[in-house]
Amino acid sequence: MKLGVCYYPEHWPEAMWAEDAKRMAEIGIRQVRIGEFAWSRIEPSPGIFEWGWLDRAIETLHQAGLHIVLGTPTATPPKWLIDAHPDVLAVDAHGRPRHFGSRRHYCFSSLTYRAECARIVEVLARRYGNHPAIAAWQTDNEYGCHDTIISYSNAARAGFRTWLAAKYSQIDALNTAWGNVFWSMEYRSFDEIDPPVETVTEANPAHRQDWARFASDEVAAFDRVQTDILRAHSPGRDVLHNYMGMFTAFDHFKLGEQLDVAAWDSYPLGFLEQAWWPEATKERFLRQGHPDFTAFHHDLYRGVGRGRWQVIEQQPGPVNWAPWNPAPLPGMVRAWTWEALAHGAECVSYFRWRQAPFAQEQMHAGLLRPDSVEAEAAGEARQVAAELAAVAGATTTKAPVALLFDYEAIWASQIQPQGKDYRGLELLIHFYSAARRLGLSVDVVHPSAELSGYQLILCPLQIFWPEGLSAKIKASGAVCVLGPRTGSKTDDFQIPANLAPGLAQELIPLVVGRVESLRPGHVEQAGPYKVTRWLEHIQSDLVPEAYTASGHGIWYQTDKVDYLACWPEAELLDAVLRRRCEALGLATLSLPDGLRLRQRGAFMFAINYEAEPLDLCDHILGADSLDYVIGGPDLPAAGVAAWRIN
Ligand code: GAL
Repeated sequence: MKLGVCYYPEHWPEAMWAEDAKRMAEIGIRQVRIGEFAWSRIEPSPGIFEWGWLDRAIETLHQAGLHIVLGTPTATPPKWLIDAHPDVLAVDAHGRPRHFGSRRHYCFSSLTYRAECARIVEVLARRYGNHPAIAAWQTDNEYGCHDTIISYSNAARAGFRTWLAAKYSQIDALNTAWGNVFWSMEYRSFDEIDPPVETVTEANPAHRQDWARFASDEVAAFDRVQTDILRAHSPGRDVLHNYMGMFTAFDHFKLGEQLDVAAWDSYPLGFLEQAWWPEATKERFLRQGHPDFTAFHHDLYRGVGRGRWQVIEQQPGPVNWAPWNPAPLPGMVRAWTWEALAHGAECVSYFRWRQAPFAQEQMHAGLLRPDSVEAEAAGEARQVAAELAAVAGATTTKAPVALLFDYEAIWASQIQPQGKDYRGLELLIHFYSAARRLGLSVDVVHPSAELSGYQLILCPLQIFWPEGLSAKIKASGAVCVLGPRTGSKTDDFQIPANLAPGLAQELIPLVVGRVESLRPGHVEQAGPYKVTRWLEHIQSDLVPEAYTASGHGIWYQTDKVDYLACWPEAELLDAVLRRRCEALGLATLSLPDGLRLRQRGAFMFAINYEAEPLDLCDHILGADSLDYVIGGPDLPAAGVAAWRIN
């Protein structure tokens, strides 16, 4: 467990570097990420390289004992490159090339750009690949940031056609899979197919799903060019990429397979503002962030990184990019850091060292103010660094609960929401919250993951049900909770012949006869439970555990499986999980929304997300006599406690 920071030596006079490095080390920082936007300083003109400054920057950080994560600068192709090769620019939905002047203006499918990336990455890797200070490489920066996965360039169109030809071999197979007889959409050859854009009304959902799959594969292929070069010239170093919160436009699990470590950028207050939470929730957690949102991503990226992950950018104060940008509660930067470490992070690294007085992010806080005086977060980082020893040796163990996460299902729910507010990611986090309110630790995993050892498997959004998944779940012996729309589409984006839940009928004997979506504010009462947004009309010999006044079952149960035939509100999820946990002998709590627990090896951590103090004794039996190593039962606002589990 260690702390890090993101640093831009190219933004500051060289005379400041040594002092900066010394101050980083003094705070307790051990990792520093540099370089990811520095292309114009490394190669100011085509083929003309300026290595001196970067050599000296790396040496200065090395001398201070800092480990370096060196970023490849490919998120920011410089002006000369764009002018020489305008075809590297991404193209928007109206066919217009994106402009130079910010970042991420490239198209993943541009072969010209891939060649340029290979060139710059190779010279970097050859120069620094064996430098003792280089501990890891970061490829590019935040794939997908500013909505940049999709490009409608000629290269993307050509790539899509090739991808489709490889997938379907025969055009008739594609026509059948997509159902192109509908509306005379049939093609005679792969070369006739365009990206699904600018159609009069919605394009064929199967066409869109394949386009999303193609675009996702392009990200992995683009990244692979860099990863291969880095591995060849920098043996023994980790290769990572920094993912983001709420980005679902490419399959992070697939990209994660070719990387060593998953890193992600955690901006709890920015995310709270941008996400779907009601106004009252945003107000309540204004300076703390949502208690489950960040934690969910920690658990997701632990899965993506196959156990190895870190927060490589952590919000240190107000950011500049959300609609409103409040300051964190005093202590909250420390609490976020501990939340990440509790979930198993190898490092938490703050973005950024010093606030820049110029350009786009001048309103974004750093650990230092622009005048080099420490900002609030510096002291909190120093405190965490001093506390780390208290939980030394804490390893991450398997959680009792697995939550299946499938990017393809999120795309499907976006392509065909059927109800305007059927948000896949929201539903996934909604299930996650229910488990966290009970005090349970959760692993977020891909459906292809090993499932043995879990006691409870949650499938909130498994719209595509892969062959073999039912057998794997049965073999695990776990109890499984299925959400609405489970198995409701075949891989070809068609309704299964046996209707939903399709292949998941191997787990529970029921059929979804029809579905309806409900407008906001409409509530169907089902005994003590409320149903909103979505209701399925089920045919089954099973007797439902609850049903609406009009007689529709919303909760079906067998020995090992629950099926929820609606968008479940919190009370229903609580009831389902509580009943199952009791039977499984899994201890549960009833945590208030602002209090969260997480186990890391032999330690349990508690974080208070309320703006008010909390007494753990009100929520955990015997909390006054736990073996505390950080804090105690009285948690101030933004407070942290950790204790050794016996
Ligand atoms: C991240 C990005 C950083 C910086 C930061 C500001 O998304 O990776 O380069 O822009 O946001 O919060």
